[in-house]
Amino acid sequence: MADYPAALVANYGRPEDVIRLASLPHPAVEPGMIEIAVERAAINPSDLIPVTGAYSNRTVLPFVPGFEGVGTISRVGTDVTGLKPGDRVLPLGASGLWQAYLQRPAEWCFAVPADLSTEQAVTAYINPMTTLRLIAALKDHFGGPAGLAGRRIGVTAAGSAIGRMLLMTLLSKGAEVTAIVRSDSTAARLPALPGLQTLVTGQPIGRDTVFDAVVDAVGGETGGGLLRHNLPAGGMFLQYGALSGVPIAQDALSARPDVRFAFLWLRSFVHSAGRQALSGAFAQCFDGLRDGTFASHIAATYPLSRISDALAHQNAPDRRGKVLIDPHC
Ligand SMILES: NC(=O)c1ccc[n+]([C@@H]2O[C@H](COP(=O)([O-])OP(=O)(O)OC[C@H]3O[C@@H](n4cnc5c(N)ncnc54)[C@H](OP(=O)(O)O)[C@@H]3O)[C@@H](O)[C@H]2O)c1
Repeated sequence: MADYPAALVANYGRPEDVIRLASLPHPAVEPGMIEIAVERAAINPSDLIPVTGAYSNRTVLPFVPGFEGVGTISRVGTDVTGLKPGDRVLPLGASGLWQAYLQRPAEWCFAVPADLSTEQAVTAYINPMTTLRLIAALKDHFGGPAGLAGRRIGVTAAGSAIGRMLLMTLLSKGAEVTAIVRSDSTAARLPALPGLQTLVTGQPIGRDTVFDAVVDAVGGETGGGLLRHNLPAGGMFLQYGALSGVPIAQDALSARPDVRFAFLWLRSFVHSAGRQALSGAFAQCFDGLRDGTFASHIAATYPLSRISDALAHQNAPDRRGKVLIDPHC
């Protein structure tokens, strides 16, 4: 079989400097493994972090980035049951979606329902499942499924793909939700959701603004300020990202021992939940795609051969939505 194209990282560094196109050979399909012809892959912020070397203790060079994508099974090894060539699947558990073919163990491949398009399914995993885990963590803190009704919850980076999913899900649970964004232009682009309040950072947020919980993907001064000043004793600060590039300052953490601080990693859930729990989570993700709660706007789709343009678009300040890769052209 002919070699196939892949985006490859041979050295750590800035993604736009070190992600290169390469040709890789098709290995034989080992027992229990599935080969997937990748149809679409997403670019997510979390794909770029390992490229910088941030997780060098658990990343082996060279590697193919990309944690999220959909493909069609092209070959199966012996001992594979329940999946066959032609089935569409979401492979998880490791990076590698930014290439034309990928091998994963069958137990890490989840079937995509026929009623969902590939463009819908390509963003079915990372952000929807993280939203579900964040909501579960908030429910745990506030005492069960009904515990979110009437809670004042602030969501930072609320215009991001996952921010929008959180806004819609929290409002549907009866929470009083405030979208916290960094500019008026982002505020103007937020979805018009009944009951949604908006706060633009930049000016200090008054101490009379009080949230029962803050769900934070920004960190730095924004997250630290909210943690210090805008949560009551017994409140929750739930962090899942650091888009500012700066962690929450240690003195902000030390100042609020009366607030429950938690950092949520989707990865921890995925690697400990087991296949049954992951299948259940995917059923919820797929339902969210069908009703629009977990739908992501697609900014553009690039052939893998234009990976540099795709990465430039991912970093563009005027990007509106997810950038996708088509690895077969
Ligand atoms: N912990 C986990 O397991 C996990 C899982 C999934 C995602 N995440 C994290 O969730 C975050 C969002 O992911 P996503 O895919 O939803 O992102 P996205 O759709 O690419 O959106 C990111 C948006 O956040 C805003 N932003 C960027 N830097 C910011 C800053 N310093 N302050 C405030 N807003 C900023 C920008 O919107 P404007 O330019 O319009 O302001 C940007 O478009 C990322 O940090 C990602 O790593 C974590």
